[in-house]
Parts: sequence; C-alpha cells; structure tokens
Amino acid sequence: MSLRRNILDLRKRKEQVLLGGGEEAIKKQNAMGKLTARERIEAILDKDSFHEYDMFVEHQSKDFDMDKKVLHGDGVIIGTGTVYGETVAIYAQDFTVAGGSLGLMHARKIGKIMDHAMKMRMPLIGINDSGGARIQEGVDSLAGYGEIFFRNTQASGVIPQLSIILGPCAGGAVYSPALTDFVFVVDNISKMFITGPEVVKTVLGEEVTMEELGGARVHAEISGNAHFFAHNEQECFEQIKQLLTFLPWNNQRKARAFPPKPPKPEYKIEKIIPADPTQPYDIREIIMATADDSEFLEVQQDFARNIVIGFGRIDGETVGFVANQPMVLAGVLDCDSADKSARFIRFCDSFNIPIVTFEDMPGYLPGVEQEHMGVIRHGAKVLYAYSEATVPKITVILRKAYGGGYIAMNSRHLKSDFVFAWPTAEIAVMGPEGAANIIFRKDIKEAKNPEEMRKQKVEEYRVKFANPYVAASKGYIDSVIEPQETRLLLKHCIEVSTNKDVLTPYKKHGIPPF
Ligand code: HXC
Repeated sequence: MSLRRNILDLRKRKEQVLLGGGEEAIKKQNAMGKLTARERIEAILDKDSFHEYDMFVEHQSKDFDMDKKVLHGDGVIIGTGTVYGETVAIYAQDFTVAGGSLGLMHARKIGKIMDHAMKMRMPLIGINDSGGARIQEGVDSLAGYGEIFFRNTQASGVIPQLSIILGPCAGGAVYSPALTDFVFVVDNISKMFITGPEVVKTVLGEEVTMEELGGARVHAEISGNAHFFAHNEQECFEQIKQLLTFLPWNNQRKARAFPPKPPKPEYKIEKIIPADPTQPYDIREIIMATADDSEFLEVQQDFARNIVIGFGRIDGETVGFVANQPMVLAGVLDCDSADKSARFIRFCDSFNIPIVTFEDMPGYLPGVEQEHMGVIRHGAKVLYAYSEATVPKITVILRKAYGGGYIAMNSRHLKSDFVFAWPTAEIAVMGPEGAANIIFRKDIKEAKNPEEMRKQKVEEYRVKFANPYVAASKGYIDSVIEPQETRLLLKHCIEVSTNKDVLTPYKKHGIPPF
C-alpha cells in the first residue's frame, strides 16, 4: 500500500473509533442529558490540547460470543491535555460502548494513564460512567478493579486525584472514586451505589429507586461521598477547573501563586460577629472577609454543615480554611464534621497547603446517638490530623473555644505555629452557664434567690475565665488581635513559614483512627 493509502486507512480507522458505540447509542446518551465521553474531555481541557493513547485497544475476550463484538477503545478513552496551560492525565469511560463496563483491556488502559500520571507527577482526572465489572469477562474484570484500587492508593498524597461521576457507577466502580481526593457529582445524572435497586429488592424486599439509593444529592448531603455538587455537566467542569487553580501538581510542589487581591469591600470583618455572644452568624463571611478577592471554593458544602472547609488565597498563596459554622448546631464537632475536616486537613498537609483555622464552637456534640456512632474515634481523627500536619498551621479564635473543641481546633498544644484570639474569644473548659451550674451548685442551691445567684455566678465565671486573657497570660495564644488585623497577620504568618521544616520521628506510617 502506498503511504497515502496507509494514511487514508488510518483516518478511516480513527473515524470508526471516534464514533464509540455508534450513532444510536450516542443519541441515547444525549437524550439522558449526558455528553459523550469525548465531549466531556474536550469540555474540561484547553482547546485542542488532548493527546489520546491506546485508541486502537480492543477487548480480547471470547466467551458469550464476545469474539463477534467490536468494542471501540474497549469503552474508555485515555490521554493527556492541559488545563489553564498545565498538563493533566485524564480518562473517560464511554457508556455508549458496552455501558462503559470494565473489562481487562479497559482496566489496563486506565492503569496505563494512572501510571503515566504518577511517573510524570501530574493530577489525574477520572470520568466515571459505567455499569461496573463487565459481566462477560468474569474474574478478569475484578482483577482490573484491583489493579486500579492499588494504583489509587499508591498515588494518594503524591498527585491530586479527581473523580467525576457522570452516569451510573455501580459495584466496584464506586471504590476507585472513593479512594481519590475529590468526587464531583451532577444532579439527576450521577448515581453511585454498591448494590443496585434489583439486589436491594431481592435481598431486603424493599422497592427503592436509583436516585434514592445513591443519587447526586444523597452523596452530597447525606453520605458525604461527594465533595462537589453541580446542576449540570458544564457547571461541574467549571468547578473542576476552579479547584485545579488552587492545587499543586504534585506533593513536591506548591500551588501556583496568583497576583494578590484584597477582599471585596462589602465584607467588613469587624461587623460580622453579633454583639450578643449567643447569636449565630455565617462563618463563611469571615472567610470571605479574609480571602483574596473574597474567593472561597467550599468543599462538601452540603454535608456536615456545622464545619466549613475549602480553598482560598491569602496574598496570592493557596490556603485551606477549616472553620466551625455557628449557624449549624452551634458549630459543634460530631462524627461527620470530624471526618470531613480531618480528611481535608490531611489533603492540605500532603500537598503543601497552609491551614487557616477559624474557631467558634462549644465542643463535641453530646448524646447517646453520637456516642454510639463512635464520636470518640471520629473526633480523634481531628486531633490526629492536626497533630500530624507539618504545613504552616494558623488558628484564630473568634469566640467560643470550649473544652475538647479548644484543644482539637489546632490549638498550640497540637503544635499550631500561630494562635491568635479576638477580644471576643472565650477560652474555657466549658461555657459559663454549664460551668457555674457545676462549680457553684451549692451556693446557688442555698441562696435566697437561686436564679439571681445563678446569674451572678455565671457572670463571675465569664469575667474570670471566658475571655482570651487567661490563655494569653500563659502563652497558649500568641496575641489578642483586633478583627481588622486578621488578614495582615495571616499574610505575615504565611511569609514567615515559607521555609518551615519539621522533623518527625521515623515510622512506616501512623495508625490514624480510621
Ligand atoms: C456488561 C453491561 C454492564 C456490565 C451494562 N452493560 N452494564 N455489559 N457488563 N456490568 C451493557 C448492557 O448490556 C447494554 O448493552 C449497555 O451496557 C447499556 O446498558 P443498559 O442496561 O441498556 O443501560 P441503562 O438502562 O441505562 O442501565 C444502566 C445500568 C444497568 C443501571 C448500569 O446496565 C445495570 O444495572 N448494569 C449492571 C450493573 C451491575 O450490577 N454491575 C456489576 C457490579 S458487580 P447493549 O449491548 O444492550 O447496548 C461489580 C463487582 C466489582 O462491579 C467489585 C470490585 C470490588
């Protein structure tokens, strides 16, 4: 064959592969409000930057008449491309080809791009849209999942791993996303479950829809498996691109710095906390009054809302914010908020992102339900994560810092680098009400007017202990500051910490209270 005919032959083969599962299947995909795998890759990457590998890979199975079937690319597209000019590795399962099901060659392709991402130390983006293990390929499919899970675990803490759920994600297909750093879901499109409605009906006799079992809202609000929720695919892709602007490309690098910008003038930091210390306020306003351009990318916004986590910048540098939310459950720590914050702290620590903690919380949530759910081991994760972290750690106590909460929220004692308190801070073993009721019980009981005496004792306690000056007198906090000084001090702390270096004892790895 002449070169020209060879080239024409190549082009024809490519055209066939580009059609995936064929026009009918693509129409069905679009009718469900879903883009095709190729359209998704194009929507995330910079224009014309995608380089595909393994386009001509085919499945190798013969059972169940599979040898008569052509599965283009074996149902997955892999390659590299750029986002805002920097290269990422990406794969997208193609539901139009055998439901994006995972067979041996499909898994090998994903493994290949994961190995590439690790070798080249760049982020990995996985687009999941799959019926799970390819039933016809039996144990080869299961082996394929195992190979992916192993690679996810090896890559954890080395390169950022982002998973997008854009269709069904059943059985083994959910565990790779669960092992990655951030999971993105889209309303009405994403479904994640271990066992589908059919199995639930067979085993438990319960009728349940896919949406109820594992729809996008379920994972964004209840299970906590998802970190970002979007209303459509385009919004989801914008979230991914925004997240990438805050992240370093691997654990040896820092996130890229941006030109510094002041917070927007409408956020007046000194006006956010109400005069009455029992009144709630939205902690996100404090974050936005502090962050560059008031930009805050909140993570797990709708899950365990009593704690707020996410990324912003101080003077152009990425920081991770962890902040109690007084508007929800007074900002207490409970099982879910402990899991949420501990994982985020570990992410920041792995990827050289300084952690800024804003504290205003009355302690851990009491009660039988929390104790039985394991608030001890869940709460311990926060202590572990903060203690273990060696990135710059800064705490600002805004109002309440009571009991276990005071210690847990990145206190000096867990080796925070800088601890500041606003004059409104109350640092004590517990709130004045509870404390006075216990230590002055006898005085209150024996008083002529017990209610009057109780009020008096609460005030006495408040004046004596519920302020920042006792802790300041002992050096537990570095300084009592005015709210308006907060941003400048954060900037100073981050600058001072540029070359922070901490020696940790030799160990293979610790044993966090998983
Ligand atoms: C082979 C599959 C498949 C699978 C779907 N297909 N899932 N082929 N193996 N696991 C094929 C269908 O046969 C069909 O092929 C095409 O993909 C589209 O599927 P539909 O069923 O027509 O689509 P839809 O109605 O949208 O339903 C999608 C679905 C459903 C909800 C995902 O297909 C489904 O329930 N699939 C099975 C899910 C599952 O139980 N997976 C195994 C999990 S066990 P044609 O040729 O007709 O177009 C597992 C164990 C791993 O993963 C554990 C590791 C830890």
